[in-house]
Amino acid sequence: TSNREKFRPAYHFSPVYGWMNDPNGMVYKDGVYHLFYQYNPYGSMWGNMHWGHATSTDLISWEHHGLAIAPDALGTIFSGSCVVDKDNTAGFGAGAIVAFYTSASDRQVQSMAYSLDNGKTFKKYARNPILTSTQRDFRDPKVIWHENTKKWIMVLAVGQEMEIYSSADLKNWTLESKFGEGQGAHGGVWECPDLLELPVEGTELKKWVLICNLNPGGPFGGSATQYFVGTFDGKRFVNESPAMTKWMDWGKDHYATVTWSNAPQGRVIALGWMSNWLYANDVPTRQFRSANTLPRDLTLYTSEGETYVKVSPSPELLKLRGKAEKKRAFKVDRTYDMDNMLSDHAGTYEIEMTVRNKDAKVIGFQLFNSKGEEVEMYYDLAAGKFFMDRTKGGDWTFSKEFPAITAAPVEGGVEMKLRLFVDKSSIEAFGNGGRFAMTNLVFPTEPYNRISFYAKGGSYSVTSFTVYRLGTN
Ligand code: FRU
Repeated sequence: TSNREKFRPAYHFSPVYGWMNDPNGMVYKDGVYHLFYQYNPYGSMWGNMHWGHATSTDLISWEHHGLAIAPDALGTIFSGSCVVDKDNTAGFGAGAIVAFYTSASDRQVQSMAYSLDNGKTFKKYARNPILTSTQRDFRDPKVIWHENTKKWIMVLAVGQEMEIYSSADLKNWTLESKFGEGQGAHGGVWECPDLLELPVEGTELKKWVLICNLNPGGPFGGSATQYFVGTFDGKRFVNESPAMTKWMDWGKDHYATVTWSNAPQGRVIALGWMSNWLYANDVPTRQFRSANTLPRDLTLYTSEGETYVKVSPSPELLKLRGKAEKKRAFKVDRTYDMDNMLSDHAGTYEIEMTVRNKDAKVIGFQLFNSKGEEVEMYYDLAAGKFFMDRTKGGDWTFSKEFPAITAAPVEGGVEMKLRLFVDKSSIEAFGNGGRFAMTNLVFPTEPYNRISFYAKGGSYSVTSFTVYRLGTN
């Protein structure tokens, strides 16, 4: 790859040319994962929104199919979702992929289109739009099938609320309820909703989760993904913890996250856009802008009476693992350098480690390169947090909003597990089996090919440490 492409990820989805933001219309059908996305085919800045299309059978390697839905007299094509209409409720044909999106002009309205050839071509519904409003921000329709009431449900982001509609035929929609006032974070507009049911680990219970992307107002500025846990009866979503704000990812580059419709084996697989509206148009790539996050399987876990989303890298990622370098257990009481651990890597690897604390107050390490650029990560045991500091990570001159130290709450314990996915210009951290996730972009002038550990206030042991090359290198 040329130097101009040095930030292009090897195992994350990115457009060959042009601008991408939100993942749209993710739907699984006949063994194929479809990914549509907000796409500007004419340049690598936001504008002229279309839906691009790609497919995969393993969620990792993607085939590009170009444009799926293009602007028309109603406007450009904003975010939305797809369903498989198995029973032909809309009358377009059994097994049609039906897409819902926002037509955006000086107003925002909801439209639909359908595909009878597995997403290759879409026909727009003749009676678009299917929903209009006097609200300015009225967008991002997410449609799901609700088994108990045998109805389709649409969640729409409207200003700083979600509106919930129902339908029998995907064409005629009835407003059932609104959700949002007094709930969660309201630092910006609510966007890109999702509504899903997840099992609570260790129980027979299932609970409903309402995903609500928010811009701005995220925990580290700009855009971020919050969620609510509760019940949904086909009409109304009730948040079981109205006083809490819950974040799905504690980095600065995780947005517009929604899940696959019709995923196999009851899986709930999420995908986000790996950027932040604060600087997405300014990051130092030219040919393309933005990649998606890794695919992540969602479940629920309980901690001190609260239910949270657990975010695990999708198991398909294990198949990417190439050559492994394992390190024998070692103790850290001051610093510990591992010069050659990552030295032959091209910046595309996974690190899996287990740390056992003895009496350290801070457990930390830096990923760094020969240019003096480094990303520091550390557990601060007194604060009960895991931090990632990219302020010295490489190029940040394109935006003063880019330098950041992000932090995730971590439950105390002697043993901590961490999986890190590095892919040229991104780092995704998953702690304690997915109890926290943290996604941050980085723009180092050369890959981070060394790692060094340190301890403050005591010592700890790294009881297991493996680096896997990922992808093609
Ligand atoms: C979220 C968003 C959506 C909108 C789309 C436009 O990132 O602002 O609300 O549909 O991007 O590209």
